[in-house]
Amino acid sequence: MSKFTHAVIEKNSILLLVLTLLVVAIGGLVEIVPTFLIKTTVEDVEGVRPYSPLELAGRDIYVREGCYACHSQMIRSLRSEVERYGHYSLAAESKYDHPFQWGSKRTGPDLARVGGKYSNDWHRLHMADPRAVVPESVMPGYPFLAQTPLATHDLVNALKVQAFIGTPYTEEMIAETLADVFVQQNPDEDYDDMVERYPGAIVGDFDGDPATISELDALVAYMQMLGTLVDFSTIERANITQ
Ligand code: HEC
Repeated sequence: MSKFTHAVIEKNSILLLVLTLLVVAIGGLVEIVPTFLIKTTVEDVEGVRPYSPLELAGRDIYVREGCYACHSQMIRSLRSEVERYGHYSLAAESKYDHPFQWGSKRTGPDLARVGGKYSNDWHRLHMADPRAVVPESVMPGYPFLAQTPLATHDLVNALKVQAFIGTPYTEEMIAETLADVFVQQNPDEDYDDMVERYPGAIVGDFDGDPATISELDALVAYMQMLGTLVDFSTIERANITQ
């Protein structure tokens, strides 16, 4: 641009403003648009599914109790992390997390793959009093969770809200919410339909009390499924930074 034209722009504040906005808009588009177009931004990974209603309720309790203040849920692609926690986290693994629980503080260990690491009994003791199983633990106890019945009255709405913001809950899943909660924490019931709706869902009496559905049932169901959905034996480990 010649000196002359530039002088015109500099002397006309409105023109300068319009052209500045135009340039900033182009810069912004160049940065933002590709993230929506590139397929690998959130890859589709086999096994990743929406949370079962009981797991979703457990996740809400995790958020309510502020567990994320001490626990992250994102394994980075560093050798030290992968050796300790397992395969690094994939973006797709948290695609149904609204909001995601990656966290940035690790007073306790990362929980992205804690599912299946301990028994339900271990979790029950640990949540009631962490020092009963890990003497040096600084984690607070949450003994009230086992005594608090799970509030199920708003769970149907919780699923509807998730569906509204893009989680693929079907009409059937929403209609069966309460039945699915009941059978997932009661291995004596017929849970086949629930497992068909939520493949890989772990069924069990999570809180050690078959008579009631407690908040502990939901939280442990959530803990036990974390990181278990993707079969990493079929995925090659790559890009691990030393
Ligand atoms: C003040 C920090 C703090 C808070 C809050 C906290 N934790 Fe922990 N957590 C820890 C620490 C430290 C450990 C490691 C020692 C232990 O196992 O107790 C731990 C360990 C754990 C473990 C075992 C992880 C492993 O791989 O061994 C689980 C599961 C867990 N916490 C779940 C929770 C849940 C669920 C909540 C919320 C209800 C929570 N924590 C809240 C600090 C915290």
